[in-house]
Amino acid sequence: MSQETQAVQTRRSRAWFNNPDNADMTALYVERYLNFGLSLEEIQGGRPIIGIAQSGSDLVPCNRHHLVLAERVKAGIIEAGGIPLEFPTHPLQETGKRPTAGLDRNLAYLGLVEVLYGYPLDGVVLTIGCDKTTPAALMAAATVNIPAIALSVGPMLNGWYKGERTGSGTIVWRARQMLAAGEIDYAGFVKLVASSAPSTGYCNTMGTATTMNSLAEALGMSLPGSAAIPAPYRDRQEVAWETGRRIVEMVEADRKPSDVLTRSAFLNAIRVNSAIGGSTNAPIHLNAIARHVGVELGLSDWEEHGADVPLLVNLQPAGEYLGEDYYRAGGVPAVMGELHRAGLLHGDALTVNGRTVAENIGDAQIEDEKVIRPFDRPLKEAAGLTVLSGNLFDGAVMKLSVISDEFRERYLSDPASPGAFEAKVVVFDGPEDYHHRIDDPELGIDDRTILVIRGAGPVGYPGGAEVVNMRPPAALIRSGVHALPCIGDGRQSGTSGSPSILNASPEAAVGGGLALLRTGDRVRVDLNSRRVDMLVEADEIERRSGELRIIEGELYPTSQTPWQEIQRSIVGQFDTGAVLEPAVKYQRIAQTRGLPRDSH
Ligand code: FES
Ligand code: MG
Repeated sequence: MSQETQAVQTRRSRAWFNNPDNADMTALYVERYLNFGLSLEEIQGGRPIIGIAQSGSDLVPCNRHHLVLAERVKAGIIEAGGIPLEFPTHPLQETGKRPTAGLDRNLAYLGLVEVLYGYPLDGVVLTIGCDKTTPAALMAAATVNIPAIALSVGPMLNGWYKGERTGSGTIVWRARQMLAAGEIDYAGFVKLVASSAPSTGYCNTMGTATTMNSLAEALGMSLPGSAAIPAPYRDRQEVAWETGRRIVEMVEADRKPSDVLTRSAFLNAIRVNSAIGGSTNAPIHLNAIARHVGVELGLSDWEEHGADVPLLVNLQPAGEYLGEDYYRAGGVPAVMGELHRAGLLHGDALTVNGRTVAENIGDAQIEDEKVIRPFDRPLKEAAGLTVLSGNLFDGAVMKLSVISDEFRERYLSDPASPGAFEAKVVVFDGPEDYHHRIDDPELGIDDRTILVIRGAGPVGYPGGAEVVNMRPPAALIRSGVHALPCIGDGRQSGTSGSPSILNASPEAAVGGGLALLRTGDRVRVDLNSRRVDMLVEADEIERRSGELRIIEGELYPTSQTPWQEIQRSIVGQFDTGAVLEPAVKYQRIAQTRGLPRDSH
């Protein structure tokens, strides 16, 4: 038997569509896929059946352009000899889903695993974009392990207001300070924020979307140079077509996610994350993908491999520019070229196009040094994420690239202990409590106060809310204090420029140290020893711990939907990816669990 025929015979779609040993079931499977116009010859002729996991819809505006791009993907698949079958994934709109899209990431993951495993698919194009759509898709592809390639929808065009770039999300954090200070009114606030969203696509800042799409490329899961192309650009349609062609070749070569998602690939992605000034959500999502593909990766890897990497990309919130500028300056290949020449990448890692990272980079160069800096002239040295621990939590992250001069001067420049500070805390139980009380003068919040928020983690919220970047009281903003130190067990939007200490694990809702903290306690943050501790006597901590009751409805609000309850009962903490723990043992199921049984 020729190699090619063998590949066709072992293709999983054959078990549905062309299995003479199981004629009655084959007929049942085949007839319904003919009814929208496919021919028997197409379905039974041994062509790869390629799923297009469609994440865009009217509910997911960030990814909606994938409805257009899918037509080009299909054309590419057909051109290469495959059959495209498009299907919807569970909607994951970061801004639209309440209580959080974080709650739904694992639901979308579960749904996609069932579809990829339970339908006659030989390979899949994962349409990615808005924050959680990328990890959900990559986590599912990792679990099932059929050939998979990711296609980014691309960022929106740059936002502009009165001659200045306005970036998604980032403008909200600035505008809310202007609103609090009385510089704009409510209508002006909405107008200013809307200016940042001028076209189809995802957030044009280096938020979680640009981060995760860049990292999907850095991991080798999407075509080189594809992540940064703005959604409306012509080039985006072209790469959609190439992605369609490529997935068919991947099925023929049996190139699976486990070939690409190796530890080397993850370490490359960690370094790229530092160089781009990536989101603090990245460790949660990458650690989750790694766990589902069975690669060892922990928070300590982010510190060890990422903390010292310089910031090269000058995008908001860490810098000034936006998505279109990032693309014109060379995008991910230009960044990876700098890192590779500095010896910081595993150049031998394999990517979806069958070539290595080093081969793909070639001699990729920076096209605009205002937007992407050369490695030897970075925007900031040692700009990755730092990982902190202490008696308040076992693990939390802080983004070093967004520490402003004002913040450094006020908190990190004490000659007696540079890089460390100590202050009293004001503790909020969830975002509602924070919104209600932040401007209450009774709290006595001054420029030496640490704001703490709890009840915002994967169990407490649930899904984890992006609420840790709390603004100071309006009165303090008016006096020129634009940021206070913040600590929380929630997340923070990747578009935020706040140097918060966040993703604290374990969270208060499962009895983590933050649950024991009280307003008025003192906390010490030491970035040199990477510790955060409450300065409370050990016997007092023990006494509070004895009094703590971890009860739904008391420590955190009761579940409102079945999924909230189910996820709460099986979800892990942020430091280990906040995955559904029972799902982790299901790895590479297309190879390890055989085929699903017949439907009838
Ligand atoms: Fe969808 Fe930012 S809200 S990408
Ligand atoms: Mg967000």
